[in-house]
Amino acid sequence: MSAIVIVGTQWGDEGKGKATDLLADDVQYVVRYQGGNNAGHTIIVGDTTLKLHLVPSGVMYPHVTPVIGDGVVVDPGVLLGELDGLVEQGLDVSRLKISGNAHLIMPYHREIDALSERKLGRQKLGTTKRGIGPCYADKASRVGLRVQDLYDMKIFREKLDAALQHKNAILTRIYNRQPMSQIEIETEYAVYAERLGPYIADTGSLLHDGLDRGENVLLEGAQGTLLDLDHGTYPFVTSSNPVAGGAMTGAGIGPKHITNVIGITKAYVTRVGSGPFPTELHDEIGERMTTIGKEFGTTTGRQRRVGWFDAVLARYAGRVNGLTEHFLTKLDVLSDFETLKVCRAYRYQDQEFEHFPPHQTAFHHATPVYEELDGWTEDITEVTSFSDLPKNAQAYVERLEELSGVHIRWVSVGPARRQTLERSV
Ligand code: IMP
Repeated sequence: MSAIVIVGTQWGDEGKGKATDLLADDVQYVVRYQGGNNAGHTIIVGDTTLKLHLVPSGVMYPHVTPVIGDGVVVDPGVLLGELDGLVEQGLDVSRLKISGNAHLIMPYHREIDALSERKLGRQKLGTTKRGIGPCYADKASRVGLRVQDLYDMKIFREKLDAALQHKNAILTRIYNRQPMSQIEIETEYAVYAERLGPYIADTGSLLHDGLDRGENVLLEGAQGTLLDLDHGTYPFVTSSNPVAGGAMTGAGIGPKHITNVIGITKAYVTRVGSGPFPTELHDEIGERMTTIGKEFGTTTGRQRRVGWFDAVLARYAGRVNGLTEHFLTKLDVLSDFETLKVCRAYRYQDQEFEHFPPHQTAFHHATPVYEELDGWTEDITEVTSFSDLPKNAQAYVERLEELSGVHIRWVSVGPARRQTLERSV
C-alpha cells in the first residue's frame, strides 16, 4: 500500500503527463488533487495523443480508476465536454470518480476572473481566465457551491441565490456589467447534475479502502511548485497548492502513505503568464528553445516564456516538496546548442543566494550566476540507455543533479514512453 506524488518543480508544463504514463502500470488510482481546467496535460500512448485539462490521465488505462479529488475546482460544462471528447476517441470514462467536496466553477467565476484581469491592466497576473482564482476565493470565504450540492437542487438554489446577490452587485457596481440570471444558471447546472451524478463518489473512502487492500495511488499535481499559492512567486501564482503537501489535503490522504515524491523537472525552464523569471531568455537562443520544445500552452495556446535551467529553483522544489527523485524531461530539446548555461545561484546587490531568497524584492531583481557547460550535436531521441548519451549530455544531467541535490532517476529524450532512460542511484 503506497502512494506516490508527482509534482512539477518549476512553473508548470514540465511534462507531468509523461511521468504519469510511465508509472501508471503499477497503480490502481490516479488522483488529481488541486487546480482545475487551467491545467493541460498532453499524453501520447502509441498513436493516440490526448490533451486533458481536468480528467486525470489515468483515464487512459483500463486498470486505473481516475479520481478528481476534494481539492480540485470543477467546471462541469468543461468536464462533460472533455468526457464526450474522450468517448469519441474510443475511451471508456465510466470509471471516473469525482469528490463531492470538490468546488464548482460557476459562470460568474469565469466572468470575474476575466474582468479583474482586464482591470489590472499592465499589473495583470496573466491567469488562464478559467475562473480558478475566484472559485478558490469563494471556497475560502465559505460561499462556494460544491459538487455534492448538485445532488439536491433545493440546496443548490439556496446557495446560488446567496452567492449570486453578492456577485451581481460586483458585476454591476464595480465592473458596470449586466447581472447574471439565476434561472439560467440553475437550468444549466440541473443538466450537469443529471449527467455528472453517476461519477460523484466518496473518493476519500475509496482511496483509503484501496490503500488498505494494498493498492497503489498516484497523486498527480497540476501546475508547479513556483505557482503554489503559499510557496510560489506570489502574487504571480495559481490559487491552489500544487506542492506535495497539497496532495494530502487535496486527496484526503495522510503523509504516512507517501513513499515517493517525484519532481518533474524540465531540462530548461518555462513560464506562462506574468511574474519574475531570472533565467528568462529574450534572444535567438530562447526562440530556438521555444520552437524546438513546442513551448505553447495546452490550455490557452499562449507562447511560453523560456530560460536556462535554474538550480536555485530546483533546490527549493527539492526542499518544499521533500522530493525523493527527479524525472528530467525534454533533454532532447537542448541538442545542438554549442554551450548550455545553468544558473547555480542568484546575485542581488552584494549578496549571492544559493537558496530561494526569502524576500520577493531579491527574487524580482535577482540576476543569475551562470556556469557554462559544453553542448552536444548528436540527435539523442533514439538513445535507449543513459550511458549511450553523448558524454556532454551525461555531464549536463550529472551537473543538474549535483546542483539540485536530488537524484535524477529518469531522463526523457522524446515524447513517447520508450524515449525514457532510467538511471541507477
Ligand atoms: P490561474 O491558475 O488561471 O489563476 O492563473 C494563475 C497563473 O498560473 C498564471 O500565470 C497562469 O499562466 C499560471 N498557470 C495556471 N495553470 C497553469 C498550467 O497548467 N501551466 C502553466 N501555468 C499555469
